[in-house]
Amino acid sequence: MYEIVKAHALSEAVFEMWIRAPQVARNAQAGQFCIIHPDGAGERVPLTISGTEGDLIRISFMAIGTTTKLLATLSAGDCLRDVVGPLGMPSDIAKGPETVVIVGGGVGVACTPIIAQAAKDAGNYVIGIIGARNKSLLILEDEMREICDELFVTTDDGSYGIKGFASGPLQTLCESGRKIDKVWIIGPGMMMKVTSGVTKPYGIKTYVSLNPVMVDGTGMCGSCRVVVGGEMKFACVDGPEFDAHLVDWDDLLARQRMYLAEEKESVAYHEE
Ligand code: FES
Repeated sequence: MYEIVKAHALSEAVFEMWIRAPQVARNAQAGQFCIIHPDGAGERVPLTISGTEGDLIRISFMAIGTTTKLLATLSAGDCLRDVVGPLGMPSDIAKGPETVVIVGGGVGVACTPIIAQAAKDAGNYVIGIIGARNKSLLILEDEMREICDELFVTTDDGSYGIKGFASGPLQTLCESGRKIDKVWIIGPGMMMKVTSGVTKPYGIKTYVSLNPVMVDGTGMCGSCRVVVGGEMKFACVDGPEFDAHLVDWDDLLARQRMYLAEEKESVAYHEE
């Protein structure tokens, strides 16, 4: 059993937990994920490891499905049945000095500090861009401000920071002619598709963290397959980070919608 040591809401939609999982914490690197199985009965949920501290790992999630809604009801002192990880490949962070831009949108912002910190620790100049639909949904601004050399904040409705999407400051940076070596974009599929389109004309190496449906997380079931550069890859073992400019976004977005009806039915059933 894996004890939840701290649990709290980061916004009305996003929750954060610190879980005692010594083996996972000891080996986890930026960009990797774990699979949580809260009670041994429901689905297994892949979640990015968004931080580590001693024996603890941090996970962040949006409570939108049956299992994440269950997770959101748990608090410090409760236990999870299984936490498997670290899974997947670490982020491709080079020794600096490089200039890297880390872009997060919505719940994806939760995964940006660990990459930003790893890039910073490797001697890179780190520019952060974080965005949300509105001010109340913006998370981890203070943490990102502390790590990054520069931070831009956007809200879709202009209630805080720069009005518009996170792609706006990225576009401005690209147009400014500043040297940018690598970009990471983490957020909902459509946001990553659109935002990575900004860097493509400039030939800037851009990574996205893909989040297809996963079951085993070890390359055996095939449920997480994605098409990258015309080749089939398994996000759980070949990723989850891939070259954004090679991802077949239409295929990914279609696969993410495959079980929407079943997910809605399950949520409705458990709320009855
Ligand atoms: Fe089964 Fe990736 S989750 S192969």
